[in-house]
Parts: sequence; C-alpha cells; structure tokens
Amino acid sequence: MLKCAVLGATGYTGAELTKLLLAHPHVRVSLLTTRQEKPIALREVLPSVSKDIKLEITPYSLDTVKKKADVIFLCLPHTEAMATAEQFLAAGKVVIDLSADFRLRDKKVYETWYGVIHTAPQYLSQAVYGLCEVYREKIKKADLIANPGCYPTGPLLALIPLIKRKLIDPGSVIINAASGVSGAGKKLVAATQFCEVNENYNAYKVNQHQHAPEIEQSLSEAAGKPVKITFVPHLLPVTRGIFATIYAETTAKATEAVIRKTLQETYQQSPFVRIKAEGQYPSLKEVRHTNFCDIGVSIQKGTRRLVMLVAIDNLVKGAAGQAVQNMNLRFGFPEEAGLL
Ligand SMILES: NC(=O)c1ccc[n+]([C@@H]2O[C@H](COP(=O)([O-])OP(=O)(O)OC[C@H]3O[C@@H](n4cnc5c(N)ncnc54)[C@H](OP(=O)(O)O)[C@@H]3O)[C@@H](O)[C@H]2O)c1
Repeated sequence: MLKCAVLGATGYTGAELTKLLLAHPHVRVSLLTTRQEKPIALREVLPSVSKDIKLEITPYSLDTVKKKADVIFLCLPHTEAMATAEQFLAAGKVVIDLSADFRLRDKKVYETWYGVIHTAPQYLSQAVYGLCEVYREKIKKADLIANPGCYPTGPLLALIPLIKRKLIDPGSVIINAASGVSGAGKKLVAATQFCEVNENYNAYKVNQHQHAPEIEQSLSEAAGKPVKITFVPHLLPVTRGIFATIYAETTAKATEAVIRKTLQETYQQSPFVRIKAEGQYPSLKEVRHTNFCDIGVSIQKGTRRLVMLVAIDNLVKGAAGQAVQNMNLRFGFPEEAGLL
C-alpha cells in the first residue's frame, strides 16, 4: 500500500483529502500533521470518521514525514510549500502541493501576484501543473505536482479545448466566478465571518485576483501566444462549490453544436468532466461533494457570443479530489480510484 502523509490536516483541504484517502482502495494514511504542539484526534476535525479509526494529527517533524510517507500532500498556505518541498524531493518522495507555490512558471509573476519572494525558484520549471485531464502524460512522470487553484480548474477545462481548436477568440474571454466560503480556508478573516457573508453576494479582488495569471498561463500555452482575460471573483454565501459563467466570442465556424461536440469528444475518456445536453446547465447541487466538473454551453442566436457555465466543488475537484486524481495518475492507479 502506498503510504500518504497529509501536512495541514486540520484545514479544510487537508481534512477533505484525509477523508478521501481513508476511503481509497490502494493507499494508507500513514501520517497527518499540524503546527500545534499536542496531537489532535482526527475525529475532532472530521467528526464523520468511523469510530474504529483511531488516527491522530500529530505535531510536524521533518524526519517523521520522510520516514513514514511515499507521497506527501502539502495542504498549507502559500510560502510553506516552497520552504519544505525541496527536502522531501531530495529524499525521493513525490510531493503534491495544493498551494500556489509551484503553479506559476515565472518567478516574477509569482512574486508580483503573491507579494513575497519565491525562495525555491529552481523547482518552478520542474513542477507539473496538475490539471489532470489536460496534462495527464506529464503528471504520470512528475515528482512535484502543483495542484491547480480552485477558480482556474473549471474555466480551464471548459476553455482549453476550444482555444486549441481555434473555436473562440482567446482575447475575448471574461470569467465571472462565485465561490463558497470554504474557498478562503479555515483561518479567521473578517470578510468571511457569518454576518458579512450571510444573505450577501459581492465581487472582490476585481481584476486583481491571484488566480488570473494561473488561468492566463495555461490559456496562453493552449493558444500558442500570450492571452489576457478578465476575471471577476465573487463570494457566494454557501459552504462549498464554485459556479463560473464564462463569456467569449466564437470564430465564424463555431456553432453551439460544434462547441458541445468538441467538449464531448475531448472528455469522452475523462470520468470527471460531464458536458450538459442542449438547454441544460450545471448547478452546484449536482457537483457538491464530488470530483465532477459539469459544463453547459449556449450561444445567443444571431451572435457569436458564447456563454459557458461551469460548476465544481472547490474542496474536491478544486483541491483534494484533484490531488487524489493526480496521485492516481502518478502511481498508476485507475484515475477514478477513491473518487467515484
Ligand atoms: N479552500 C479551498 O477551496 C482551496 C482550494 C484549492 C487550493 N487551496 C489551497 O490549499 C492550501 C490549504 O488551504 P485550506 O483552505 O485547507 O486552508 P486552511 O483551512 O486555512 O488550512 C491550512 C492549514 O495549514 C496549517 N498551517 C501550517 N502552517 C501554517 C501557517 N503558517 N499559517 C496558517 N496555517 C498553517 C494549519 O493547520 P495547523 O494550525 O493545525 O498547523 C491550517 O489548518 C492553501 O494554499 C490554499 O490556497 C485551497
């Protein structure tokens, strides 16, 4: 059995990942860690866990992680991964990082958007961006996998096949996306307190969200030229889920049927991407607690204006589920193991 360590297991993505790994047929959870000084019973963080599971989340120790794990999941705030990944890679471990530290290939872009110096830039070119359906072959050989951000995952899956086939103008892409509050993590922040979020709906970081360059990086690669997007994130008063509405101009030949067929063909062999039939659109209810990414498309008659609707669960397909999918690819397990 593959031995898995989850660092930051008390957080939202760490707990979700632990739950998925405990149900996985081919792996064993060998270590869960925290910065706290005393061990924490897993059931305090994950009350749904069976009473037979006596696991504890224990204080972090580098040596213990190296001894106890084959694959190490970093469910930590950004800057923490760049400080530790090197030691795990040097010890021959596979690292799957859920933070942003290794997603952007250009050090300067990272430093501009995250406002900190990147202290392990030598790994930026080695890290493989873990958008499973797009970079499968590279992921299978990677020792450092940068799990994608929650906002980029859905829009990239919807847009990349269309840009690669030149069915839309990449420069026309506008993404309005709304995230549930767990997207901000467990830490206390005034803007995500109940009274601020409840019965509210607001945009934030308009044109300034750190996931914009991550989306642009993969779209530029698909287009073969630099792509700039407009990205407007919103906070939705639900616990989990991201719903993105994407607008783009089609090229002359791209009818709604062609767009839908292109997506259906692209994802025929991909168990987690579901393309909606004509006139049907995704909803958060249909993807919550799953690793699915649902995509609906519509073109306003008489125009070239494409609207795409994309729904995922930010903690599953947008984080922990995609991390398990990456592990499955890397270690040769069925891609859907532990996820369906
Ligand atoms: N939430 C999402 O939807 C989502 C989606 C995709 C990616 N991500 C990324 O995944 C990573 C984890 O996100 P999360 O939502 O799980 O965050 P979280 O709920 O805040 O949990 C992070 C955990 O990391 C530990 N930690 C270690 N060093 C820390 C430090 N210096 N400051 C604060 N916490 C520290 C904390 O556990 P202890 O206090 O027990 O040590 C904390 O519980 C982040 O990089 C985030 O950007 C999140």
